[in-house]
Order: sequence, then C-alpha cells, then structure tokens
Amino acid sequence: MPKELTAADPDQCVMDLYEQVLEVEERLIPTGLHVFGQPPEEYPLADLLRMVASFDRPERGCRSLPALVCEALRLPPYEELCGAETIQSSIDQPGRIAGREKADGIVRAALDAFLSAGNEAAIESLSSLAGVDAADSKPVFAFLSELREKLAGNDEMRGLTAALAGQYIEPSHGADIIQNPDILPTGRNIHALNPYGIPSAVAVQRARPIAEALLQRFVRESGRYPESLGMVLWGLDNIKTHGESVAQALWLLGVEPKRDALRRVSAVEVVPLGKLGRPRIDVVMTVSGIFRDLFSPAMSLLDQAVRAVASLDEPAEMNFVRKHVARSVEFEGLSAEDAQLRVFSNAAGSYGSNVNFMILDSQWENDDSISDLFVNRKSFAYGKHVHGKDARALMERALSGVELTFQNIDTTEIGITYVDHYFEYLGGLSKAVEKHAASRPKIFLSDAITPGAKIRSLEETVRLETRSRTLNPKWYEGMLKHGYQGVAEIEHTVSNTFGWSATAGAVEDWIYDEVAQTFVFDPGVLSRMRAENPHAARNLVARLLEAHGRGFWEASDDTLGQLRSVFSSLEDQLEGVA
Ligand code: BEZ
Ligand code: MG
Repeated sequence: MPKELTAADPDQCVMDLYEQVLEVEERLIPTGLHVFGQPPEEYPLADLLRMVASFDRPERGCRSLPALVCEALRLPPYEELCGAETIQSSIDQPGRIAGREKADGIVRAALDAFLSAGNEAAIESLSSLAGVDAADSKPVFAFLSELREKLAGNDEMRGLTAALAGQYIEPSHGADIIQNPDILPTGRNIHALNPYGIPSAVAVQRARPIAEALLQRFVRESGRYPESLGMVLWGLDNIKTHGESVAQALWLLGVEPKRDALRRVSAVEVVPLGKLGRPRIDVVMTVSGIFRDLFSPAMSLLDQAVRAVASLDEPAEMNFVRKHVARSVEFEGLSAEDAQLRVFSNAAGSYGSNVNFMILDSQWENDDSISDLFVNRKSFAYGKHVHGKDARALMERALSGVELTFQNIDTTEIGITYVDHYFEYLGGLSKAVEKHAASRPKIFLSDAITPGAKIRSLEETVRLETRSRTLNPKWYEGMLKHGYQGVAEIEHTVSNTFGWSATAGAVEDWIYDEVAQTFVFDPGVLSRMRAENPHAARNLVARLLEAHGRGFWEASDDTLGQLRSVFSSLEDQLEGVA
C-alpha cells in the first residue's frame, strides 16, 4: 500500500516511491469513450488482456499468467510480490520489487508475442523465458484468442434494431469485462442474477481478504480494531460481483451465509471467535435505493446477521455489536428492536442522497448542509420488522460511534472521480459521521480488481486516479478526440474531484494546481476545449475558482488572476461578445 514518504531513510524512501510509481504505471485507464455500435476500444488491447490474464479462471481451466511465471521461476506468490496487505512477506522489499518486475516483464513479452505472432509464439516465449509448461499456458492463450476475436466485433446495432422490431435478443450476463469476459459480445439482453444466491461462494471467498486487509490497515494506523464501521452498498456492484460487499459486511460481523438445499442463502452461521481471531465489528450499512429494490433477501440477511451477533454471549471487547446494543438498551432507553437496526436506505420508492446535486449546483453553505441532507435522505431503517421506518435519531446514534467508512470498488471501469455517486454516498456518509461522531472518520476504499487485497485511503485513491487518469495525456487526449462529450467528461472529472474536497477534505493543493496547469494554462488544450465545448470549459474554470473560494485550494494570486481572466473571456465567448 502507498506509504507516506519521509526522508528519514533515503533508500527506503526511494524504494517506496518506486513502488508507488509502478502502481501508477500498471493501472488500467480508459483512453477513449465507448461508441455505440463500434468494437470496444476504450482500453489499449495489450493492457486489457494483461489484466484479464492476471486472474485464475478455474471455470476455463486457466491459471493467472503472473502466477504461472512465479511458480515456474520458484518466486514467491505474485500477490506477495505485489505487497498484499494480508501476506507477511518472507523477502525484503527490493527482492519483492525485483521479483515482481521480472514476472511482469516476462508476462508482457509473452503478450507481445501473442499479439504479434499468435498463441504458439506466446507459449514458446513463456516456456523459454520462465520454463512455464506449455500444458499450463495453452488454455490461457486459447482463452485470450477467443476474447480478442470477440473484442473485434460488436452486436449492439443488430441488438438494438432487433429490440425495436420486437424480436428475440440473446441474453447475456451483465458484468465488467475483467470480472467476466463472457459478457462479450455486447449488444445482447443483459440480465442480472438470482438475489437468493447472494452472496455467492466465490464472493465470500474474495470478500474475506479484503475485509481483513481493511481492518489490518486500521489497526496499523490506530493500534486497535475499529468498534464501528460505516459501509456503502450498491446494487449494480453487487450484481457484478454476486454480492462481494454483502459478504464483506457479513465477515466483518463474523458470520457466514448458510445455504439451503436449493443453494439459496437463507440464514447466517456464526463464525466462532476462536476461528475469527478478532472482535466482531459493528457495521452500519448505507444501502442504495437500487440495492434495496434488487436485494430484498440480502437486506433481510444483513439485518439477521446483526441480530445473531448481538445475541451472542461473548465479552464486550470481542463483540462490539453486543456491546453497543446493550449500552443503548441499558443507558439510552432504546428498545432492543431499535438498538439493533443497522441497515439504512432511502424511504421506500426514493433513491439517492442528492448530496451530488447540492454540491455540483453549489447550493450549500457549510458542512452541516451536506451531512443533514445525507441523513434526511438515507435514514430509513430496514429489517425484520421494519420496511423503511423513519429512523433519523437511530441512524444518527449509530453514526456517532463510526470510526471508519468504506466502499468496495469492484471495477477498473469506474473510479471515484469518474461519476458523482461515489462522493454522494461515501463522501456524504463520511460527512454525516464527522458531524455525529464529532470527528472525521478514516475513509478507505478497496481495490478488489488488482491481484492481492488492496486497501487504499481516500486520499491515496484520489492521488492515484489524478495521476493515472486526470493528468495523464493518454486519457485527456483520448477524451479531447471525442469533442463536445470528451470535454464534458474532463469537466465532470474535475468537479467530481472537487466533490471529495467538499465531503471529505481529501484533495491536496497540488491536484488543483496541476489541473489548472494542464487544462487552463496550456493554451493548446484550452483552445481545443473552448472550441469543442465552451460551457464545460467555463464550468471547469469556475469549479477551480470555487475550490479556492471555499477554502479547499490555496492558490497564488497570480494563478487566481489568470483563472479569472480566462473565465471572463469564456463568459464573453458564450454571450457572443468576444
Ligand atoms: C447502485 O448500483 O446501487 C447505484 C448506482 C449508481 C448510483 C448510486 C447507486
Ligand atoms: Mg448518474
């Protein structure tokens, strides 16, 4: 995980910095938008295939290429080389990095051979460079060939015209291409899943290392476990991952899903403390309206899990749910029913926190405007006996103990600065905690899609997205090629980044400095933006001025003067007086 760099040990500092640069370099970023009806070209093919080939796919008989290379070279497991939080590494950092670079280099060479000369050349490359057995690499390249062929086609226009003509359209999974490459070709009738199967066995398996890594990160920084944690659960993410964040919440509480004879998840089974090896964490769940509508069985399961844990006869220091429920009943006069409510969402039929609209429209005065709106919208409790009960005081009570907030990121396709919904939810929740717990929580996100369970702080994630995407010419040049909409995407990214200042104070000055430098003070970029979409260009400059005006950015007078002058010339252009 990225560390704070200090000059105390320069060699160590250089190594940490090097590892962070590797992380930025390795990240898969889109270099264009999807054009309906055209083959997907949002990602460079070699990078996309490398990501797809980084995971074991037992259903296809495929091992991950980095894992095969590490095994053949007798290196430690690839996750360990990447610095996975949950693995105590047996080798030092330079050894880890050297091993990782060696494995990465061999995988890249094999993929280059695959793209330029085909399967046999790739198999031969892996065999000669690392001694990987052809029997192991053959199924991987057969799979990548199939994927490459599918990526060259597109059925969207045919699917649309068939739909408009009322004809049958073949069904397909809805997912992310790395999670499930079977989604190709696009243009089919996307379906979701059976909500009674949530969370799936694979989701449970994937959730544990992430939940444990989250707790370990907190323990490392604070010297103890968090008693209460606030979590965001979304519907679409849980469709794609078959319930990974549901499984994370269950594991944090220290329970596992129990399946009936039809493989439906119908109850929870308590994991004994001896096996869990840590306290049960109190989890306050903020659930989107989409999740509430799609996953009624999972809503009941989460509520059931909290009740099961609250009823266990365990010491308070090992069961924070029981500790908090007992305290609320004994000292705060709550009924046992109310004291156990932890699943909150919008009122029935309502969706979203609206924090995004308030911030993007600049319609807020202070922190309380944000936290109050979030709680107004999201304080309806769901559980065994309640379905959307107005429970503002109970939610505020639950939030007052929260020490860390968290959201699972399950895709490389959408980052926390790409859309306004992440700051609307995780940012809104964190601001509400800040008000009711009287201190800002630690805010973390997972990165479930890179090998090894990665947890990053919000600040680290904002920095990583800014460096790998927003300020990366590969990304913004790709956007500028799309003209009007591309410029709008650039402005949205800047405004969504600003959303993290407003909700969590998580954007450092250099980010705004570099955004101004890249998009406003580079005359070439600015002139293309104003030619293609002057409204978005004006909004971007206005957002930078707002960041300064609200105290999120300490800009120099010279910078502000230049921004104001560009802003007024854009206004003139829009009013037709320029
Ligand atoms: C959801 O999948 O639950 C969701 C998607 C976008 C915005 C908010 C929630
Ligand atoms: Mg939206």
